[in-house]
Amino acid sequence: MTLTSPDIKPLTRQNFPPNFVFGVATSAFQIEGATHEDGRGDSIWDTFCREPGRIRDGTNGDVACEHYHRLEQDLDLIQSLGVDAYRFSVAWPRIQPSGTGAANEAGLAFYERLVDGLSQRGIAAHLTLYHWDLPQALQDQGGWTNRQTAHHFAEYARIIGERLGHKVRSIATLNEPWCASILSYEIGEHAPGWHDRPAALSAAHHLLLGHGLAMQELRALKLSADLGTVLNLGPAYPATPADGAAAAVADGRFNRWFLDPVFRGEYPRDIWDGYGTDVPVVEAGDFEIIRAPLDFLGVNYYTRSYISASGEQPAGAVTTDMGWEVFPQGLSDLLIRLHADYTLPPIFITENGAAYPDTQNAEGDIHDPERVKYLESHLRAVLAAGEAGVDVRGYFGWSLMDNFEWAYGYSKRFGLVYVDYETQERTLKDSARWYQALAKS
Ligand code: NOJ
Repeated sequence: MTLTSPDIKPLTRQNFPPNFVFGVATSAFQIEGATHEDGRGDSIWDTFCREPGRIRDGTNGDVACEHYHRLEQDLDLIQSLGVDAYRFSVAWPRIQPSGTGAANEAGLAFYERLVDGLSQRGIAAHLTLYHWDLPQALQDQGGWTNRQTAHHFAEYARIIGERLGHKVRSIATLNEPWCASILSYEIGEHAPGWHDRPAALSAAHHLLLGHGLAMQELRALKLSADLGTVLNLGPAYPATPADGAAAAVADGRFNRWFLDPVFRGEYPRDIWDGYGTDVPVVEAGDFEIIRAPLDFLGVNYYTRSYISASGEQPAGAVTTDMGWEVFPQGLSDLLIRLHADYTLPPIFITENGAAYPDTQNAEGDIHDPERVKYLESHLRAVLAAGEAGVDVRGYFGWSLMDNFEWAYGYSKRFGLVYVDYETQERTLKDSARWYQALAKS
């Protein structure tokens, strides 16, 4: 098994700054299953999965990786990888089944077992409050298009902060607000599956507001945990100089629309003007709330976008099973640009990884050399950004194990660990062994 090209020295911890964090990541809906147990309410993803045609393979989250029932085993699995940290999300509908009101003790107890189990194993807990599983009861009132949802979210954040905040290393308010708004309310590929741009921009604004309100609640608790948020970012490259303006718009809609409010307290003027009458209602004081200082920024990076009016594709592009171009340089370019354009707190790469059509051979092994290459080249891109002065403190591989890949169901495998959905058996892929060797180096 050749994991690194012979002329390049394999990566070790020595290549990274001291205390650089190596972790793996998951999210609640994608792995937990047990959607009807211990008082959990429906989330928008439960509802969405019931709508014919929404999920390509017709599956849902009812069983997923059965993580809810295999918690101890999965904690042992994480420990076996030798990683320093685990990023997971809390399912809001386990905590407040209808999105408001008293906390459900059984839900809190599950996450308490999770964080206690991590701490017993010496693994730092990085908690995400919102990874897309909005309580359906709140969607019935408009979901994120309803400003009130931001206030409900802050209340939920306080509940989690009070109960778990002193036991975790970090709390991220949102995961990928672009996906939770634009992909969900405008493009319609994610729950709730709307096709309504003004609604999507209003959802984005209320997500940002909810982030800021949650920050206020969490700050008031004076926790030792670092507080921040997670954005999905990716640079847009014009194919030709003539595509430059379009690339600036793509960058503005995808990246700056979320970065600018959080780090500058404003929407990017060019994009705001371009949206015309579709822009959201911004109330006085909103930006003061949204631009709350952060202890860290989480960056999820998978690919770049390539902007070409003629539909031209980048020459020699290699793609993953998602059809996403493998472009590690995009990660260093992105980080260097963020560092130049914004005053940022320390950065964590909170997700990076790739789907490939993995199969288990007769010996039970899963050879995934492309994923090893993907991970290694992106870790090298992080190092390059570090050399250019960007303060990156850690990296979380997406994902610990194969799981429910949203609109693709179980057909896309992002795991370092292979999951046999028939038996729920977990098997380390070669990439997991590679990552393990790095983490333990
Ligand atoms: C980002 C999301 O946060 C995660 O849930 C998803 O599985 C990965 N990207 C891969 O698409």
